[in-house]
Amino acid sequence: MTTVNVNLMLSHPLMEEILASHRDHAGGDERGWAGYRGHAYRVFNLARALVDDGDNRDEKLAIAAAFHDIDAFRSLDYLAPSIRTMHAWLCRTGREAWAEELAVVVAQHHRLIRYRGRHATLAEAFRRADLNDVSQRLVRSGLPRDHVRAVRESISVGRFFTRTVPTAIARHLVRRPLDPLPIVRARRALRQTGHEAAQW
Ligand SMILES: [Fe+2]
Repeated sequence: MTTVNVNLMLSHPLMEEILASHRDHAGGDERGWAGYRGHAYRVFNLARALVDDGDNRDEKLAIAAAFHDIDAFRSLDYLAPSIRTMHAWLCRTGREAWAEELAVVVAQHHRLIRYRGRHATLAEAFRRADLNDVSQRLVRSGLPRDHVRAVRESISVGRFFTRTVPTAIARHLVRRPLDPLPIVRARRALRQTGHEAAQW
């Protein structure tokens, strides 16, 4: 995957609109929500460096980034709920045509190995971007070092990884110990949200 020269975007109208209208998904964890916002902007900016411009790249990545972990505050089994939340917004705003592609992007974003299926251009860039941030850049994901440094220095993720996600993991393991890793179940999430055709 080649890299693209991009300037940082620290604000995007769609990201702002989505985060503002879905604040209730934080369940009152305001600091966690601020951290999630930072993580979403980091992933957005990292992914932009892995996809050529065109085909509404920034709009689609902004939407996927805003929604990709949005229901992590409620449960660790949040892929399907996040896709449903995104789907409802896409329908409300006349963007249903993007629903399948963005469902794949969200469903596959925790995959640990390369994704080669349908909509791989955006899904693979997004997966790499998220993995770079979640791994604290241990996994470089083919991203330019300078860009990663600029993104991390400009955008804080607060306590999203140190409190919000660990809390969701702990709560989940107590409630559903036999399903320890729902966050990697991309096919299940696509099936549950009516996107069976895009499983591969
Ligand atoms: Fe994420």
